[in-house]
Amino acid sequence: MQLRVRGALLEDGAALVDLEVEDGVVSSLEPHSPDAGRRGAAVEIDAAGALVRPPFVEPHIHLDATLTAGEPRWNSSGTLWEGIAVWSERKPSITRADVIARAEQVLRWQAAQGVLFVRSHCDVTDPDLTALDALLELRELVSDVMVLQVVAFPQEGIVSFPRGAELLEEAVRRGADVVGAIPHYEDTREDGVRSLEIAVDIAERYDRMVDAHCDEIDDEQSRFIEVLATLAMRSGLRERVTASHTTAMGSYNGAYAHKLQRLLQRSGINLVSNPMINLALQGRFDDYPKRRGLTRVKELVAAGVNVAFGADDVVDPWFPLGTANPMMLAHSGVLAAQLTGQAEIAETFEMVSSRGARVLGVEASYGLRVGGPASFVVVPASSRMDAVRRQVAPRWVVSRGRVLAERDPSPVRLQWRGDEHEIDFVRAADEGAATWRHASVQREA
Ligand code: FE2
Repeated sequence: MQLRVRGALLEDGAALVDLEVEDGVVSSLEPHSPDAGRRGAAVEIDAAGALVRPPFVEPHIHLDATLTAGEPRWNSSGTLWEGIAVWSERKPSITRADVIARAEQVLRWQAAQGVLFVRSHCDVTDPDLTALDALLELRELVSDVMVLQVVAFPQEGIVSFPRGAELLEEAVRRGADVVGAIPHYEDTREDGVRSLEIAVDIAERYDRMVDAHCDEIDDEQSRFIEVLATLAMRSGLRERVTASHTTAMGSYNGAYAHKLQRLLQRSGINLVSNPMINLALQGRFDDYPKRRGLTRVKELVAAGVNVAFGADDVVDPWFPLGTANPMMLAHSGVLAAQLTGQAEIAETFEMVSSRGARVLGVEASYGLRVGGPASFVVVPASSRMDAVRRQVAPRWVVSRGRVLAERDPSPVRLQWRGDEHEIDFVRAADEGAATWRHASVQREA
């Protein structure tokens, strides 16, 4: 046997199970038994009651621009628009090696944090498509451990940028998995509508998915989401279409939002919200009170629409911080979208995992079941809510039966009123105490 995990918690409140792996596939899932382990396994993991879940999923990141913050200059206003201007100054110095080195570094950070499915946008408003070719190459280089999808993303427009549509189609011809768009950035409303029609047409002709940056602006008049949802419905692409950001929805009036919600439900499209970046970039043109600048995550999730959370930017012209940490993302989403109900907090865990898998369309190779791929994270937490609260990183990350990452669980030793305490943010589930007591074990003085 390749690997065994003892005492795994698959669902909040469920009985523990023992999980066995053969040839990269889950071969058995049985109720936890102290006798498990009689048959030798090459690798034994004692989960000790920790959560064992399918890998985290990153549905929206820009790996071509990552780790370029400050090059050639910093974004001093902090706006999305200055970010695009700074990026267009950096673009001419892009090389294949430059893109691969930066993008692979972030993929390593993601793998170490249990993110094994990644959808990256890649700017294709570059006549040479250098970054696109580099990310397509990287997609193959990492394919034995993770799934990387590349979106052909026309950062400076399809209709309003010279040869925009031609470059977009060429990117898809070269192998991009997903067709992007940016309708709110096009010069006119009509150009924006046309750009979405072009993106959907290319997706239909090349059998691809669609993921548009849509209404990423505080302008309550920006309503391309209705165009995208309608095109998704009429083309039949439906759940193969994603609207990313849709921050203008946070500014729509109630009557329009009500009408739109019904259209979104009927269309079956996915939404991706990027809570950290939307909070950081939106509301920049407001006087006080400043808007949060997020789409209506809470209401859409309650209405049954698939919404996932993405990191968007990591150390780039739009955001100088970030580590692509999925638990930090879920935690930020709780704050930004006011998802503070117990079930809502647990759902934010899904928004950086299973809901992201639906966005990527990878459900067939996602999930823990006998006969399914043995890719999972062992998160030392007593529930999904506990994992989000303490932003717990996986102690082990397993990809197709192989241990990809292992974290040293060394606790912090704290001298506190004459006693030494161990503050343990990693191994908490081992203690089996109530949630709020998890992270602190007092030692005898
Ligand atoms: Fe984005």
